[in-house]
Amino acid sequence: MTKYVIHGGKPLYGEIEISGAKNAAVAIIPAALLVDGVCRIENVPQISDVTLILKILQDLGADVRTVNKSTMEVDCTGIHNNRAPYEMVRRIRASYYLIGALLGRFGAADVAMPGGCDFGVRPIDQHIKGFVAMGAEVDVQGGFIHATTQNGRLSGAQIYMDVVSVGATINVMLAAARADGMTIIENAAKEPHIVDLANFLNSMGADIRGAGTDVIKIRGVERLSGGTYSIIPDQIEAGTYMTAAAAAGGEVLIKNVIPKHLDCITAKLVEMGAEVQEMGDALLIRRMGRLSRTNVKTMPYPGFPTDMQPQIAAVLALAEGTSLITEGVWDNRFRYVDEFKRMGARIQVDGKVAVIEGVDHLTGAPIRACDLRAGAAMVVAGLAAQGITEIDCVYHIERGYEDIVRKLSAVGADIRVVITPEEEDVHNSHAV
Ligand code: EPU
Repeated sequence: MTKYVIHGGKPLYGEIEISGAKNAAVAIIPAALLVDGVCRIENVPQISDVTLILKILQDLGADVRTVNKSTMEVDCTGIHNNRAPYEMVRRIRASYYLIGALLGRFGAADVAMPGGCDFGVRPIDQHIKGFVAMGAEVDVQGGFIHATTQNGRLSGAQIYMDVVSVGATINVMLAAARADGMTIIENAAKEPHIVDLANFLNSMGADIRGAGTDVIKIRGVERLSGGTYSIIPDQIEAGTYMTAAAAAGGEVLIKNVIPKHLDCITAKLVEMGAEVQEMGDALLIRRMGRLSRTNVKTMPYPGFPTDMQPQIAAVLALAEGTSLITEGVWDNRFRYVDEFKRMGARIQVDGKVAVIEGVDHLTGAPIRACDLRAGAAMVVAGLAAQGITEIDCVYHIERGYEDIVRKLSAVGADIRVVITPEEEDVHNSHAV
């Protein structure tokens, strides 16, 4: 079992370089299934979710080569298998992108039902609705999603999404890139990684317009061919370090970011009294005095991201006054609150709303990362707390944060990895 041990209460000073975006990487790597030839993908984050999705592709028969720390070459030309097995697929939510990509490539897919962080019901009805509209027959049996087409090809269709869904938008884009004719997605999600996937596919020869708006038009092409593409920086990783600086205090330059993607996070931190200065592709964040309360409601992009909700809660737990957080995307994303309470936070949850009464200090405690972003928020809280915080189950955090301990140590945090060999390593037995 690996733990992080943090001696908190030290302000942070220095620079942090942001890695490639997890949620773009886990869509772009399966998109290589649609390409004949070598996809050279740069700015790939070194995180366990990426390792898993690459392993699944390798298992299907892809040729994967590591060029350097953040550059991979993926060649799916030789793949003839359209069945993705349960053992690995259940451990990563994004494995549902294999359905769209395999359907787009072979007109058939057999993929185990995906796993994922547990914050309520996570249906995939909108994904399935899209595939069916494009002519697929989809059936769920024995824990597998079986999707087939009559003549091996999907046909373009007009698809209205009943909810704004990142996953369904991406999955339909994947399925449509090589379908016959035009697919139009209405009420599409607009997250930066959707634009990144469209840019990746277009650079390989696809014809996708409107990504980043709520109507995306995909004219199917016969074939995609290899090329080189660099993944965008991770919005949520950058936002997490912004909240770390806001909670612990100090001055941190966050490098390799797209400031526009961070506007929603910057606006809230500035409203609370932090200073944020844009410097080209970097943001300087500075927090000296105590921050003040605010309200936050999570929404699809360009709203405040649900994936930043626990981290901003860690900051608000220490802000002056009473703040409200309304979770607008997931049913149950406040499971971390009980862990924060062990540190002295005053938070009450009623359904999708958390009422946070700011305290003047948190106290270190043993706590458990219950999912990826909750775990990141616990690191943020631990950095700001007085005394020692020990965080368990950090494999959740390592799914999405490259070198978090090294990056934080470089700005003066006292954070160490402690491995207790006598305990069972639960990493491989959990859905991530
Ligand atoms: N929804 C449906 N039907 C569907 C799909 C979604 O009702 O077919 C609902 C969901 O239940 C939820 C809402 O729509 O209430 C939004 O879900 P969405 O499909 O957008 O989420 P996702 O694609 O499963 C991705 C990210 C999540 C992030 C959400 C929202 C990836 C791999 N995951 O999930 O990221 O929280 O979008 O932005 O991109 C994370 O990185 O920690 C993470 C959980």
